[in-house]
Amino acid sequence: MFTKNLFLSALAVASLVSAQSSKVCQEDSNSINSEADIDKIASCQSLSGDVVIGEDIQHVSLDKLQSVGGNFVADNAANLVGITIPNLQTIKGEFRLQKCQSLQTISAPALTKTGKITWIALALTSFTAKISEAQSVTISDTKLTSLDGIDLKNVNRFDVNNNQYLKSVTMNLRTVTEALSMGFNAKSIAISFPALIWSNNMTITGAGSFNFPTLQHVNGSMNFLNTSVTSIACKNLTVIEQTLAFIGNDKVTELDFPILTQIGGGFKIHNNSQLVDINGFPKLKQVDGAIDFVGNFKNASLPSLEDVRGGFNLQTTEEFDCSDFSAARDDKVIKGDSFVCKSKESNPTTADGTPGADGKTNTTGTSGGNRNGGSGLVGISALLGIFITAISFVF
Ligand SMILES: *[C@@H]1O[C@H](CO)[C@@H](O)[C@H](O)[C@H]1NC(C)=O
Ligand SMILES: *[C@@H]1O[C@H](CO)[C@@H](O)[C@H](O)[C@H]1NC(C)=O
Ligand SMILES: *[C@@H]1O[C@H](CO)[C@@H](O)[C@H](O)[C@H]1NC(C)=O
Ligand SMILES: *[C@@H]1O[C@H](CO)[C@@H](O)[C@H](O)[C@H]1NC(C)=O
Ligand SMILES: *[C@@H]1O[C@H](CO)[C@@H](O)[C@H](O)[C@H]1NC(C)=O
Ligand SMILES: *[C@@H]1O[C@H](CO)[C@@H](O)[C@H](O)[C@H]1NC(C)=O
Ligand SMILES: *[C@@H]1O[C@H](CO)[C@@H](O)[C@H](O)[C@H]1NC(C)=O
Repeated sequence: MFTKNLFLSALAVASLVSAQSSKVCQEDSNSINSEADIDKIASCQSLSGDVVIGEDIQHVSLDKLQSVGGNFVADNAANLVGITIPNLQTIKGEFRLQKCQSLQTISAPALTKTGKITWIALALTSFTAKISEAQSVTISDTKLTSLDGIDLKNVNRFDVNNNQYLKSVTMNLRTVTEALSMGFNAKSIAISFPALIWSNNMTITGAGSFNFPTLQHVNGSMNFLNTSVTSIACKNLTVIEQTLAFIGNDKVTELDFPILTQIGGGFKIHNNSQLVDINGFPKLKQVDGAIDFVGNFKNASLPSLEDVRGGFNLQTTEEFDCSDFSAARDDKVIKGDSFVCKSKESNPTTADGTPGADGKTNTTGTSGGNRNGGSGLVGISALLGIFITAISFVF
């Protein structure tokens, strides 16, 4: 009797342990507002529903948890200081942290897969994770200095904006289905996607450097706005399906797109005050929209151009020879109704009438501002000459 009882209770303990070691908890939603709430799910290895962290709790620590079937969410959790989930590998839904201004640590060293990552308005400076799969990423208004811990191959949207301490992002992304948008992060941010092959809409606003050496195809538009890079190069890019724009990159001296053949929308180059020579598009054949080049450049050549379906607007503050583009219009290479080519234009404007040279003309050299002074001088000496002639005539 005694031994049998002992045996049975040993069995009971064993089965309890084994039940715990694969414990699946089936609540649709698990709200965490107190230590008692944590205790309720502390033994769960798998939660099939959501984890919703509330306003009152400071630290959420779930050591046993390995997978979450729903979302893992903290919205406006003002007192939340830390999240410790050392064994969590998967969040099937969204990993959303929003307006948690006290949050200092996310320790998720085993986390490899999530649905969406949405981290918005956090005081967070760093996190631990090794996320290699996520459908989309939105990280904005954080104090993160790096995104080490997220390294995806494919993503729908990658939207990393307004993180003023974010100084570098290197990721082995290969494809981006909807949009790659990075802007208003640290001014000097170094952006590197050394394996990127194709991406839909790409917008880079403000950056110190970027690197897309393997990019072949842009399925949407590509915009480089207000960056501080000196050179913009996409050496393996052949097609951009929509617009290509370089606007306000006031240190750029070189654009280098050696095998780009086709732009499916407009082609805009505006307000790049140090760009003297637009010669980085030697293979460009086809532009389905309009060409709109405005700035302080002295030369622009598109030697392979065969078909421009939209109009043409080129205006520069510098001396510029329009003959090649005029010939392209006469030959019906440029087919749009409007054709403007203005050399030495003191107030150059874009096709829609916006000023397109930001006034920073080259005043250190003989061009730009100084040229007017120069011609003024010529005028005066010519007048002087007449005056002297007049005087000598009188004598
Ligand atoms: C983008 O273009 C690439 C190359 O043409 C293609 O393989 C890919 O399916 C396209 N992606 C989308 C989302 O259209
Ligand atoms: C890409 O950008 C264009 C222009 O803003 C927009 O019309 C289009 O819907 C965008 N594509 C995607 C997949 O978001
Ligand atoms: C450039 O693109 C071609 C396909 O167009 C590809 O075969 C080649 O590997 C790419 N080179 C680099 C450096 O990515
Ligand atoms: C770029 O800078 C100009 C001038 O400072 C500003 O007017 C414009 O809004 C900026 N564009 C973007 C996309 O930030
Ligand atoms: C403009 O650039 C083309 C191509 O690089 C070159 O052949 C030509 O000499 C340049 N013209 C001037 C005035 O610099
Ligand atoms: C060019 O820069 C000037 C001054 O910063 C700004 O007013 C103008 O809107 C810009 N134009 C374009 C096309 O970005
Ligand atoms: C400005 O002028 C200086 C001196 O002539 C010259 O070295 C420099 O290349 C010029 N920069 C631009 C953008 O024209």
